[in-house]
Amino acid sequence: MMGIILLGPPGAGKGTQAKKLTQAFAIPQISTGDMLRAAVKAGTTLGKQAKAFMDAGGLVPDEVVIGIVKERLAEPDCGKGFILDGFPRTIPQAEALDRVTKELGKEIRFVLSLEVDQNDLMERLCGRRTCTGCGAMYHVKFNPPKAEGKCDKCGTALIQRDDDKEETITNRLANYNKATAPLLDYYRNTGKIRSVMASGEIDAIYAAIVKILR
Ligand code: AP5
Ligand code: MG
Ligand code: ZN
Repeated sequence: MMGIILLGPPGAGKGTQAKKLTQAFAIPQISTGDMLRAAVKAGTTLGKQAKAFMDAGGLVPDEVVIGIVKERLAEPDCGKGFILDGFPRTIPQAEALDRVTKELGKEIRFVLSLEVDQNDLMERLCGRRTCTGCGAMYHVKFNPPKAEGKCDKCGTALIQRDDDKEETITNRLANYNKATAPLLDYYRNTGKIRSVMASGEIDAIYAAIVKILR
């Protein structure tokens, strides 16, 4: 059971690395951010509950996110493992995950802590572009698409995420430091934490992660 948690601040590269890992290990990426954005777009009750928190760069209430992850982990494609991207993000979420994995007979094998200089994060987030068709991620400077504004994989137009504005990013970073960084201590004594230097080339970081997992 390859249960993996990708832990790291906004812009650390959780989504970028998770997408590469899902292909190599044939286990799904579970991104609470992606799931919440899909719910907002679809206008569901969940989306309506989440939208204001997300727009402000705040955290969506624990019980809401815990509910969606619990349902998702019970699905059959999580049988061999899963990559959690952006969850858990608070101590109560981590405690809930412990309970849920136990109930479902699953196990977290590694908590990968992606470590990036805080000064790099703003530039990464301001230049990020996302494909609305297939979810692929780009960066105007660090990982540009072959044709400007268009996805290499599916040709769909690329957009900037609503919460990738300087003011909102500042709030997201503050919330990370306050609510999420304490998870490093929570997992400290489990023997599952691995530090990953997540500055530098995307492929080099990926190679370092694969080495840990294999
Ligand atoms: P979420 O979608 O999870 O956003 P986030 O945590 O802020 O993280 P990001 O997706 O911004 O960054 P990332 O680490 O995935 O980086 P990426 O790979 O894209 O959450 C959004 C919102 O939803 C939250 O604010 C909250 O409101 C809510 N939410 C979600 N989960 C929640 C939870 N559990 N509890 C409560 N609320 C929740 O990379 C960023 C950019 O950098 C890209 O352009 C990429 O191309 C580039 N890049 C990547 N790697 C490199 C590299 N090595 N060098 C240069 N550039 C790079
Ligand atoms: Mg992400
Ligand atoms: Zn695409």
